[in-house]
Amino acid sequence: MYSEDLLNLIKNKNYSSFCELGAGRGTTTMYLAKYGYSDLTMVDLAEQGFEVAKYSFEKFKLSIPKMIIADVEKTNIKEESFDCIYNIGLLEHFDDPRPTLEESYRLLNKVGLIYMPIVPVQPQYKSFFQRLMFNPLSLIKNIIRSKSKENNINRTDYPRSFYAKICKEIGYKNIKCIPYNHIGKLIMMVQLRTNLLFLFINGIIILLKKERL
Ligand SMILES: C[S@@+](CC[C@H](N)C(=O)[O-])C[C@H]1O[C@@H](n2cnc3c(N)ncnc32)[C@H](O)[C@@H]1O
Repeated sequence: MYSEDLLNLIKNKNYSSFCELGAGRGTTTMYLAKYGYSDLTMVDLAEQGFEVAKYSFEKFKLSIPKMIIADVEKTNIKEESFDCIYNIGLLEHFDDPRPTLEESYRLLNKVGLIYMPIVPVQPQYKSFFQRLMFNPLSLIKNIIRSKSKENNINRTDYPRSFYAKICKEIGYKNIKCIPYNHIGKLIMMVQLRTNLLFLFINGIIILLKKERL
């Protein structure tokens, strides 16, 4: 969903160079490659993610992007190198996201776009009903994860205003720090599925009735 939204944001723009900071396995970069974008750079500290990314790009016969092992807080990449910088689920891992936001600003061509969906930590009770309704399996995964090492990953719960303030101080223009309507989209999907199921069952009932006549 995030990747689709990014695609919609860039589709009528004249952007040619793209960079995913904290790219990991590069899922979003792969999405852009699939839609024909070619000047793609992935930056991450961990090499393992890049290995997975290389495998996936090759598997889907996509050109492998530039992969740079670097700290997103100080990449040593030339300033204003990219028209669009993005990542999904990175900023919430930093107690202080300012250095990453400063580095992103430095790397951005100043008429470009920075797109960074943030997934803050949520208390279990808040997400319980959402998970129960839309993804009950994730409840089990969450319980297992809470007992494993993965749970040591730092995840903050800063409000939107916190990020917007930092961006403003750095000099970002047209800042939009908006809530992501994931649930709205999920509800629409569930409704659509229910409607299709209803139509399908109705169709069968009509057919059965016709057979009896
Ligand atoms: C939640 S993952 C992002 C996953 C990614 N969207 C994907 O498709 O795989 C966050 C990524 O940020 C990277 N990361 C965290 N801190 C970093 C830093 N200071 N410099 C570079 N990468 C960092 C981690 O190695 C990890 O791959």
